[in-house]
Amino acid sequence: MNQPQWNAMDDLLASYLLEPDAVLDAALAASAAANLPAINVAPNQGKLLHLLAKLRGARRILEVGTLGGYSTIWLARALPADGQLISLEANPDNAAVARANLERASLAGIASVVIGAAAQTLERFVVEGVEPFDMIFLDADKKNYPEYLRLSLLLSRPGTLIVGDNVIRRGQIADRASDDPDVIGLHEFFRQLAQNPRLDSTALQTVGSKGWDGFSMTLVDA
Ligand code: SAH
Ligand code: DHB
Ligand code: MG
Repeated sequence: MNQPQWNAMDDLLASYLLEPDAVLDAALAASAAANLPAINVAPNQGKLLHLLAKLRGARRILEVGTLGGYSTIWLARALPADGQLISLEANPDNAAVARANLERASLAGIASVVIGAAAQTLERFVVEGVEPFDMIFLDADKKNYPEYLRLSLLLSRPGTLIVGDNVIRRGQIADRASDDPDVIGLHEFFRQLAQNPRLDSTALQTVGSKGWDGFSMTLVDA
């Protein structure tokens, strides 16, 4: 099995299950025009995040790693009108593209982008006593997932769902001896998930238009 087949299958699934969506298409077009890397979640993955947020009944969502706001739009659309999504992004150019995309999606009222290194922003949220989130999507630099998890737990409540993107990385994480900081970070992330009695977790491998990768899913204080 190979990438063209995985792409074709994702296209087939999308043709059955995803509505044509000019706003999401425009967000990707604007991201490409601004030379952002095309590493956003795939459409069917975005819809998975959307459905998970709805299943969770999420009113407050935290995203770590905005890029052009593609996953942000999927997640924010799952919120009620008085809901809130906060997305953290280190790169101001990416954040500007995302803000324009959220504006075009009429989501700027409920979804905002905070510029800065995510760990620092999260620390600040903890200190400020920001209200806990119902769902947290980790999708920034993989080497810092352990730190994002530690801080996320301080911004969680019983029932918070934490989803981690890119936990398989073309199988790279199978190499326990790897010296790649992202791989080392993901191993530590899995260890923390496993060791913390507050957490119930699983992870799934995926193939599709994003190659061979996967998601972790964690329920806090289940
Ligand atoms: N969630 C997006 C994709 C995010 S790509 C989507 O699916 O549409 C990862 C993003 O994390 C990039 O935009 C990158 O700039 C950002 N990032 C990387 N390191 C970061 C850090 N330390 N703090 C905040 N954002 C970071
Ligand atoms: C990369 C980052 C992502 O969040 C992703 O979903 C795919 C690839 C990357 O940094 O290469
Ligand atoms: Mg990702």
